[in-house]
Amino acid sequence: MRDSVTFILNGSRHVATGVSPATTLLQYLRGTLRLKGTKEGCAEGDCGACTVVIGELIDGVVRHRAVNACILLLPMLEGRSVTTVEGLAGADGALHPVQQAMVEEHGSQCGFCTPGFVMSLYATYVSEDRPGPQRINDILAGNLCRCTGYGPIVKAARSMYDAPRANAADESKVLSDIAHDETVTLEGDGARAFVPATLDALADLAEAHPDAVIVSGATDVGLWITKQHRRIPTFIFTTRVAELRGVTRAGNTLSIGAGATWSDLHAPLGVIYPELGELLRRFASVQVRNSATIGGNIANGSPIGDGPPALIALGARLVLRKGKARRTLPLEDFFIAYGKQDRAAGEIVVGVEVPVIDEPARFKAYKVSKRFDQDISAVCGCFNITLAGGVVQEARIAFGGMAATPKRATAVEQALVGKPWSEATIAAVLPAFETDFTPLTDMRGSAAYRMLVAKNLLRRYFHETQHALSETRLVGDSAAFA
Ligand SMILES: Cc1cc2nc3c(=O)[nH]c(=O)nc-3n(C[C@H](O)[C@H](O)[C@H](O)COP(=O)(O)OP(=O)(O)OC[C@H]3O[C@@H](n4cnc5c(N)ncnc54)[C@H](O)[C@@H]3O)c2cc1C
Ligand code: FES
Ligand code: FES
Repeated sequence: MRDSVTFILNGSRHVATGVSPATTLLQYLRGTLRLKGTKEGCAEGDCGACTVVIGELIDGVVRHRAVNACILLLPMLEGRSVTTVEGLAGADGALHPVQQAMVEEHGSQCGFCTPGFVMSLYATYVSEDRPGPQRINDILAGNLCRCTGYGPIVKAARSMYDAPRANAADESKVLSDIAHDETVTLEGDGARAFVPATLDALADLAEAHPDAVIVSGATDVGLWITKQHRRIPTFIFTTRVAELRGVTRAGNTLSIGAGATWSDLHAPLGVIYPELGELLRRFASVQVRNSATIGGNIANGSPIGDGPPALIALGARLVLRKGKARRTLPLEDFFIAYGKQDRAAGEIVVGVEVPVIDEPARFKAYKVSKRFDQDISAVCGCFNITLAGGVVQEARIAFGGMAATPKRATAVEQALVGKPWSEATIAAVLPAFETDFTPLTDMRGSAAYRMLVAKNLLRRYFHETQHALSETRLVGDSAAFA
């Protein structure tokens, strides 16, 4: 075991030791290292003022991604690189093309948000070709500016590519030099962390320390620390376990590692289920999706998470491991009650098995929130209905925001099965929503609003799919018509 965290900071090797593992990267940069270019706005992943770029060696290639330093915990940096706004300008003080574009397009007024915007744009500049308008909007959705207005910043996002291309320094050598398979520990201020590199080591540590908090992307756990001021004595981080990041397809099953981030999953899930890709585009912001994992989204048991309703509607199974013992269960059975999941002490979520259904277009996911970007769902409704001969054969419908857990609409499903797929059937089954759900009133929506939205989403699903589903049925049933 090693008792320090080693990472590359603006090109130089850095070793952190004797620091509380609950220290955020932002606190460490500003408080310990006095690197104050990175700003603190909200300290909860919402405003992007703290954006930095993390580099990771994945299959021999360095991948750079923008993340929020305010909710990233120091042990997560083991073996990675961090670039802050101080690391961009050349040794002679010449501005980086991204900074130069922000100056020339007048992309800054008070300047508080500017380092965060620059770092979001820098992550794009070093990892993507010139983005289109929608991609620029997505990239900037996690950065808030109160005074400049987004027009000049969007212009900078376009024009930063006009200057001769300045590639990121090749970090593959320095990252290879600090790579190793030993478990890292970090201890300070009465707390300790374990950062294993393999799945076996992670499972053993979780079993040996059943009270430890497992941390993946820390986009939930980070807020327990910065906002709720919870003291966590023992952390176990999954961040370095490459076995948890994989996405593989065998036959009609997609096996996803619990440590895959929502950014990792956008392409593989979005290709099969475009509706799910669109839901993920509206999940938080680029910075959050670059850290947040599918396993954390499920394990936290939140009633308003966006992943679980979609995965339940698709018929996903959850894979858990305790020590050497693995078990799987239908995802809906994992959520027992508010804050109570079917996970034993010392057990970890290792993956999700997602069916690839024969007719992906019949799956639809709808996120209803107050803002389009970077908002939590008031209601998230997901539908997957199979027809045979114009009659509902199977229905899987799941909602977030309607109960104390993500939940299937079993009464609605039962009312639909065996009925013709028609507007009259939809109208007849709507009262079953009252059997399935007793939603809450909170700042995101009243109980009455949520109930109405849920019913209207079923209507919308009907209208959006009736032709697509019946066309497929006619093709499938052509023998019967011959
Ligand atoms: C600004 C912001 C916007 C957000 N927007 C959305 C949104 O639009 N939709 C949405 O659904 N969520 C949203 N979230 C919530 C959060 O990003 C997601 O729930 C995310 O997927 C959590 O993953 P994580 O890896 O960061 O989890 P972590 O914070 O690391 O962990 C969350 C929980 O899961 C447990 N855990 C993590 N990994 C494992 C594992 N492998 N085994 C067992 N337990 C584990 C932890 O102990 C903890 O209880 C948002 C968060 C922020 C900060
Ligand atoms: S300080 Fe607002 S996202 Fe980090
Ligand atoms: S320039 Fe003032 S907040 Fe963006």
